[in-house]
Amino acid sequence: MDMAAESLEALQEEASCCRRCPLWEGRTNVVFGDGDAHARVMLVGEAPGKNEDLQGLPFVGAAGKNLESLLQLAGLTRQDVYIANVLKCRPPGNRNPQADEILQCSGYLHEQARLVMPEFILTLGNFATKHIMKTDVGITRLRGSVHQVGRFKVLPVFHPAAALYDRSKQQALEDDFRMLGKMLDEQVTVS
Ligand code: URA
Repeated sequence: MDMAAESLEALQEEASCCRRCPLWEGRTNVVFGDGDAHARVMLVGEAPGKNEDLQGLPFVGAAGKNLESLLQLAGLTRQDVYIANVLKCRPPGNRNPQADEILQCSGYLHEQARLVMPEFILTLGNFATKHIMKTDVGITRLRGSVHQVGRFKVLPVFHPAAALYDRSKQQALEDDFRMLGKMLDEQVTVS
């Protein structure tokens, strides 16, 4: 999708009236993204939920609270990172994103990554991981190490919502965010 934007603001403006897929019909707000436009770390989730749709901001519900406490383990706050989702509009009833919705929406995410140009991209959960890493390998196998994808160091992690009721996933997430904190203090080379 050809979508070269001059700035995040211009891209957000374009996204605000997007009708590329049918999800526009049910949305309250386009949830474009939030945070530092020059962040070293970009986080990519799946899609807005109910609270995000109402407020127009990513990760403002229970998963967002967990995410903020995880960021602290890496020495970061929400303001230090840039947060976006694969889909910018809420799927009805929080169902899974569909392939065509991802395809239609992907130009926004790719432009966000190009404009922010973070050093690290954390993919939160299976949808973001599979989309960004272009793989069918599941998150359980991929998490715990950094993968070079184009210009970015990608760190796949469990989705912070999936970890809310699963102690072992939460433990893995905490380990991965601590590892991120260490890598931010070092220069990391991955093969
Ligand atoms: N889950 C996501 O994947 N994204 C959000 O913005 C909120 C919950």
